[in-house]
Amino acid sequence: MRACRGLDVPHTPVWFMRQAGRSLPEYRKIREGVGMLESCRRPELVTEITLQPVRRHGVDAAILFSDIVVPLAAAGVDLDIVAGTGPVVAQPVRTADAVDRLRVITADDVDFVARAVRLLVAELGDTPLIGFAGAPFTLASYLIEGGPSRTYARTKAMMYGDPELWHRLLSRLAEITLNFLRVQVSNGASAVQLFDSWAGALSEADYRRYVLPHSTAVLSGLAGAGVPRIHFGVGTAMLLGAMGEAGADVVGVDWRTPLDRAVAAVDGRAVQGNLDPAALFAPWPVVAQETQRVLAEGRAARGHVFNLGHGVLPDTDPDVLTRLVELVHRDSETGAAA
Ligand code: CP3
Repeated sequence: MRACRGLDVPHTPVWFMRQAGRSLPEYRKIREGVGMLESCRRPELVTEITLQPVRRHGVDAAILFSDIVVPLAAAGVDLDIVAGTGPVVAQPVRTADAVDRLRVITADDVDFVARAVRLLVAELGDTPLIGFAGAPFTLASYLIEGGPSRTYARTKAMMYGDPELWHRLLSRLAEITLNFLRVQVSNGASAVQLFDSWAGALSEADYRRYVLPHSTAVLSGLAGAGVPRIHFGVGTAMLLGAMGEAGADVVGVDWRTPLDRAVAAVDGRAVQGNLDPAALFAPWPVVAQETQRVLAEGRAARGHVFNLGHGVLPDTDPDVLTRLVELVHRDSETGAAA
């Protein structure tokens, strides 16, 4: 939390996007026979899965086990999370009628998340819990495409072709996202991360025009909540400044942009990242060298939270992650008081 706020830290804190998941044998075991969405709705299971990487790796933060489409499912969208594919939406949202049918969730719709967060905060002690949600653009891309996409052709068709409908959809998604994050914060989450994973598909001009107002609505809606807000996307080298302006305290950076260059773009904000998740498959001396490079580049920032540049890949050796946490802690020691 101190690093997010740009304050002195005894060492650079580290956690991993997708730290809970298929890289861990204990995760694969406990998930046997339970669907992804179903597992997100069971607070005791969510608690156990969220704690697994904290126990195993000694990371400095937990991230709530959930998915960006959980609030959409709670809003009544017929969808599933298909292993190896991702979210699949039964009836893609492409018309005014479909947009108007999208209901804004209340706290009651996601009571299972509130319960999981309370259980976790009680178990975690001093380790912060990061809550999260998908940003309006990334959620819209799944709703409009009906699943993952490489081109976002249908998403952009609505964005360019019917801006009025586009903005109606994104403002509704912003309300859903904000309500979902408020439930997590009011039940004790210490920080939040807004995942706009696929925003890098847009030019800066289009991002500013079609997306920024809605992500700003989400992040500024949490301005008074007192929790650091992390804003992350992939392939966002050209968007880092705008993603900071949306109201982030910390801007997440993928592996393509060196952190010292990211720092210049984010106007004094803290940064998070950005070791290439695929680098973890290289021999250890290479992993160590890359980690040291990221730490060195991160010293240009007012605050640096070490992470990968995107999520842990499912085949990653978990022992490499544990070793990485130890290395980050050791090589970033500053002598500042804890
Ligand atoms: O440990 C954590 O980071 C917390 C858990 C988490 C999950 N999804 C669990 C999950 C988080 C933060 C997410 C966010 C999420 N979900 C994003 C944004 C982050 C990113 O990766 O950019 C996106 C785009 C999604 C949508 C989604 N859900 C995808 C692309 C997939 C992968 C599909 C696959 O099987 O390859 C999912 C499923 C998913 N979400 C899994 C997990 C652990 C895998 C499901 C399983 O274990 O069977």
